[in-house]
Amino acid sequence: MGDQWFERVQYSWFQRFVINCVCSGKLPKHVAFIMDGNRRFAKVNDITRSESYSMGFEKIGEILDYCETFSIRYVSVYAFSIENFKRSDEEKSELFSLMSDKMGYLLSKIDKIHEKGIRINVLGDITLFPDNITKTLARLQLETLNNSEFCLTLCLAYTSRDEIRNSVKCMAQGVACGKLRVTDINETLLDKCLYSEDLPPVDMLLRTSGEVRLSDYMMWQANFAALQFVKVLWPDFGFWHLIGSLLDYQRQEPMLSQYRETYSPFLEKMTRAELAAVAHSEHCNLKSHDNCHLNEAITDAYIQSHQMRTEGFLSDLRGERRELLEHCAELTV
Ligand code: FPP
Ligand code: MG
Repeated sequence: MGDQWFERVQYSWFQRFVINCVCSGKLPKHVAFIMDGNRRFAKVNDITRSESYSMGFEKIGEILDYCETFSIRYVSVYAFSIENFKRSDEEKSELFSLMSDKMGYLLSKIDKIHEKGIRINVLGDITLFPDNITKTLARLQLETLNNSEFCLTLCLAYTSRDEIRNSVKCMAQGVACGKLRVTDINETLLDKCLYSEDLPPVDMLLRTSGEVRLSDYMMWQANFAALQFVKVLWPDFGFWHLIGSLLDYQRQEPMLSQYRETYSPFLEKMTRAELAAVAHSEHCNLKSHDNCHLNEAITDAYIQSHQMRTEGFLSDLRGERRELLEHCAELTV
């Protein structure tokens, strides 16, 4: 395999001119890709599926380079969905062998990854893979945890619904063991229990192949994202397709940022009202509804205790996830 992942793309003068124009507008911070159309690409070009997937992997390296050019520091790719476990054994073994090769390749390039400050993050239940892949994915994540220039998120053994299920389960366990109260559960906490807890929301979600579906990908995170459905098979996706999508993002951005900006204060207000209702139901013997200052003080005190509980719970959850990762990295294969 060549070093396409770490080679810089050479732009023509015209490309550089267009880059400058696009960079004068607002750009997304986090772009998520659904890399669809790899098998169709294999058929059209009369190559094997493995060759096509391999080209698809090289494409990720090329995309990272473009994104660096546009200072897009968060890139996520849907590399294997939980639904993909339903594919034939033959196809799964091709994909697993590719994953094992490519992840091993990335580990062998760890110095270059550090040099570029790339953090490799994985969303999904990596324990569903054969142990050798689980181990390499865990090692890649742990080795690059402190890199902060750029974050590449590989979504593997992932679906949005499974991620949300997992978040709800973590909160339920928190309640069961007394770290949380049922009334601590809200949208903000659910968000923080997702695998993606430390990623910014998705600003632009792009699917190749012409299919117009989200396929259970980043549904929570892409709430205010500009959706792009591009009629090109993933290994054929290139610079000009990205430019077209970024220009369309810039068209949609003012409206999306308006939605986003009005949503935050709305959520904050709703959450405060919900917590205030709990606080007052617990202090109803004070009959303080006519005393504004006392009401506020009761609410503030309750919010403080809610914050302490949720912060403690989240810190334990992060610790447990880290331990699982360390355990996976130590698997004997
Ligand atoms: C969907 O195309 C894509 C996948 C199931 C996997 C994509 C993975 C890669 C491109 C590279 C592997 C990545 C890593 C991290 C090793 P498809 O198979 O559904 O193709 P189709 O839509 O033409 O049927
Ligand atoms: Mg497909």
